[in-house]
Amino acid sequence: MADAPDTGSAVTRRGFVGWAVGMGAAFVGLVAGVPLIGSLISSNKATPGAYVQVADVALLPTGEPFALSFVESARDAYEVAQLPHSVYALKKSDTEVVVFSPVCPHLGCQVYFNRGSKTFVCPCHDSVFSLDGARTSGPAPRGLDTLPVKISKGMLLVQWIQYEPGVSQKTPV
Ligand code: FES
Repeated sequence: MADAPDTGSAVTRRGFVGWAVGMGAAFVGLVAGVPLIGSLISSNKATPGAYVQVADVALLPTGEPFALSFVESARDAYEVAQLPHSVYALKKSDTEVVVFSPVCPHLGCQVYFNRGSKTFVCPCHDSVFSLDGARTSGPAPRGLDTLPVKISKGMLLVQWIQYEPGVSQKTPV
Protein backbone atom coordinates (compact mmCIF):
# COMPACT_ATOMS: atom_id res chain seq x y z
CA MET A 1 0.00 0.00 0.00
CA ALA A 2 1.47 3.32 -1.11
CA ASP A 3 1.90 6.19 1.29
CA ALA A 4 -0.49 9.09 0.90
CA PRO A 5 1.21 12.16 -0.65
CA ASP A 6 2.32 14.65 1.92
CA THR A 7 0.50 17.62 0.36
CA GLY A 8 0.96 19.87 3.35
CA SER A 9 4.72 19.56 3.11
CA ALA A 10 4.69 20.08 -0.73
CA VAL A 11 2.63 23.24 -0.38
CA THR A 12 5.03 24.53 2.21
CA ARG A 13 8.02 23.89 -0.06
CA ARG A 14 6.27 25.51 -3.04
CA GLY A 15 5.23 28.40 -0.88
CA PHE A 16 8.76 28.87 0.36
CA VAL A 17 10.20 28.80 -3.18
CA GLY A 18 7.62 31.35 -4.30
CA TRP A 19 8.37 33.54 -1.30
CA ALA A 20 12.14 33.30 -1.94
CA VAL A 21 11.74 34.20 -5.64
CA GLY A 22 9.52 37.13 -4.70
CA MET A 23 12.01 38.39 -2.12
CA GLY A 24 14.87 38.02 -4.62
CA ALA A 25 12.95 40.02 -7.23
CA ALA A 26 12.13 42.69 -4.65
CA PHE A 27 15.79 42.90 -3.63
CA VAL A 28 16.96 43.21 -7.25
CA GLY A 29 14.32 45.88 -7.86
CA LEU A 30 15.42 47.79 -4.79
CA VAL A 31 19.11 47.62 -5.69
CA ALA A 32 18.43 48.72 -9.26
CA GLY A 33 15.69 51.20 -8.45
CA VAL A 34 17.20 53.31 -5.69
CA PRO A 35 20.07 54.72 -7.80
CA LEU A 36 17.63 55.23 -10.68
CA ILE A 37 15.30 57.24 -8.46
CA GLY A 38 18.32 59.20 -7.22
CA SER A 39 19.43 59.97 -10.74
CA LEU A 40 15.95 61.09 -11.73
CA ILE A 41 15.73 63.41 -8.75
CA SER A 42 19.21 64.87 -9.29
CA SER A 43 19.30 64.92 -13.10
CA ASN A 44 18.23 68.55 -13.43
CA LYS A 45 20.02 69.89 -10.39
CA ALA A 46 23.45 71.47 -10.62
CA THR A 47 25.25 69.84 -7.72
CA PRO A 48 27.78 72.24 -6.26
CA GLY A 49 31.23 70.75 -6.03
CA ALA A 50 32.66 69.73 -2.70
CA TYR A 51 35.41 71.75 -1.05
CA VAL A 52 38.78 70.33 -2.04
CA GLN A 53 41.94 70.82 -0.01
CA VAL A 54 44.45 72.51 -2.31
CA ALA A 55 47.34 73.97 -0.30
CA ASP A 56 48.97 74.69 3.01
CA VAL A 57 48.30 78.39 3.55
CA ALA A 58 51.63 78.88 5.34
CA LEU A 59 53.48 77.83 2.17
CA LEU A 60 51.69 80.28 -0.15
CA PRO A 61 53.49 83.51 -1.06
CA THR A 62 51.83 86.68 0.24
CA GLY A 63 50.65 89.46 -2.05
CA GLU A 64 51.10 87.72 -5.42
CA PRO A 65 48.78 85.24 -7.15
CA PHE A 66 50.00 81.67 -7.02
CA ALA A 67 48.79 79.02 -9.49
CA LEU A 68 47.38 75.88 -7.88
CA SER A 69 46.04 72.71 -9.45
CA PHE A 70 43.70 70.16 -7.95
CA VAL A 71 41.35 67.36 -8.95
CA GLU A 72 37.67 67.42 -8.07
CA SER A 73 35.67 64.20 -7.80
CA ALA A 74 32.32 65.06 -9.35
CA ARG A 75 29.43 62.64 -9.09
CA ASP A 76 26.84 62.56 -11.86
CA ALA A 77 24.21 59.85 -11.28
CA TYR A 78 26.21 56.59 -11.39
CA GLU A 79 29.54 58.02 -12.51
CA VAL A 80 32.27 59.73 -10.56
CA ALA A 81 34.48 61.86 -12.80
CA GLN A 82 37.89 63.20 -11.83
CA LEU A 83 37.95 66.81 -13.02
CA PRO A 84 41.26 68.69 -13.03
CA HIS A 85 41.11 72.40 -12.21
CA SER A 86 43.61 75.21 -11.87
CA VAL A 87 43.07 78.40 -9.90
CA TYR A 88 44.99 81.47 -8.74
CA ALA A 89 45.28 81.92 -4.97
CA LEU A 90 46.08 85.40 -3.67
CA LYS A 91 47.12 85.19 -0.04
CA LYS A 92 46.52 88.37 1.90
CA SER A 93 47.28 86.89 5.32
CA ASP A 94 47.37 83.51 7.04
CA THR A 95 43.62 83.84 7.55
CA GLU A 96 42.59 85.46 4.26
CA VAL A 97 43.10 83.98 0.79
CA VAL A 98 41.21 85.04 -2.33
CA VAL A 99 40.95 82.40 -5.05
CA PHE A 100 40.23 83.36 -8.67
CA SER A 101 38.89 81.11 -11.37
CA PRO A 102 41.23 81.34 -14.38
CA VAL A 103 38.26 81.13 -16.74
CA CYS A 104 37.91 84.44 -18.57
CA PRO A 105 34.39 85.82 -18.07
CA HIS A 106 34.30 86.98 -21.70
CA LEU A 107 34.19 83.68 -23.62
CA GLY A 108 35.93 81.24 -21.32
CA CYS A 109 39.60 81.24 -22.32
CA GLN A 110 42.21 80.70 -19.59
CA VAL A 111 43.80 83.84 -18.19
CA TYR A 112 47.39 83.91 -16.98
CA PHE A 113 49.16 86.12 -14.46
CA ASN A 114 51.75 88.50 -15.92
CA ARG A 115 54.36 89.02 -13.19
CA GLY A 116 55.84 92.07 -14.94
CA SER A 117 52.63 94.09 -15.13
CA LYS A 118 51.06 92.36 -12.10
CA THR A 119 47.88 91.82 -14.06
CA PHE A 120 45.84 88.86 -15.23
CA VAL A 121 45.73 88.75 -19.01
CA CYS A 122 43.46 86.81 -21.35
CA PRO A 123 45.31 85.83 -24.54
CA CYS A 124 42.16 85.42 -26.62
CA HIS A 125 40.81 88.98 -26.86
CA ASP A 126 43.18 90.87 -24.55
CA SER A 127 41.00 91.42 -21.54
CA VAL A 128 43.13 92.58 -18.61
CA PHE A 129 42.33 92.28 -14.91
CA SER A 130 44.03 93.91 -11.95
CA LEU A 131 45.60 92.06 -9.03
CA ASP A 132 42.25 92.05 -7.23
CA GLY A 133 40.48 90.60 -10.28
CA ALA A 134 38.75 93.80 -11.47
CA ARG A 135 38.50 94.24 -15.25
CA THR A 136 40.73 97.10 -16.43
CA SER A 137 40.37 96.70 -20.20
CA GLY A 138 39.07 94.44 -22.94
CA PRO A 139 35.70 92.91 -23.78
CA ALA A 140 35.15 90.86 -20.58
CA PRO A 141 31.78 91.93 -19.12
CA ARG A 142 32.91 91.52 -15.47
CA GLY A 143 35.95 90.96 -13.34
CA LEU A 144 37.51 87.58 -12.63
CA ASP A 145 35.27 85.24 -10.70
CA THR A 146 36.27 84.44 -7.14
CA LEU A 147 35.61 80.95 -5.81
CA PRO A 148 34.29 79.97 -2.36
CA VAL A 149 37.13 79.15 0.02
CA LYS A 150 37.62 77.89 3.57
CA ILE A 151 40.70 77.74 5.73
CA SER A 152 40.70 74.77 8.08
CA LYS A 153 43.63 73.78 10.30
CA GLY A 154 45.91 75.91 8.14
CA MET A 155 44.82 74.27 4.88
CA LEU A 156 43.13 76.10 2.01
CA LEU A 157 39.99 74.46 0.65
CA VAL A 158 38.36 75.58 -2.58
CA GLN A 159 34.96 74.88 -4.10
CA TRP A 160 35.07 74.82 -7.88
CA ILE A 161 32.19 76.59 -9.61
CA GLN A 162 31.85 77.22 -13.32
CA TYR A 163 30.29 80.62 -14.03
CA GLU A 164 28.46 81.70 -17.15
CA PRO A 165 30.68 83.60 -19.60
CA GLY A 166 29.59 86.66 -21.57
CA VAL A 167 27.24 88.18 -18.99
CA SER A 168 27.81 90.94 -16.47
CA GLN A 169 26.36 89.00 -13.52
CA LYS A 170 28.37 86.23 -11.88
CA THR A 171 25.98 83.29 -12.44
CA PRO A 172 26.81 79.61 -11.80
CA VAL A 173 26.13 77.31 -14.74
S1 FES B 1 37.85 85.06 -23.88
FE1 FES B 1 39.04 86.35 -22.64
S2 FES B 1 38.92 88.26 -23.61
FE2 FES B 1 37.73 86.98 -24.84
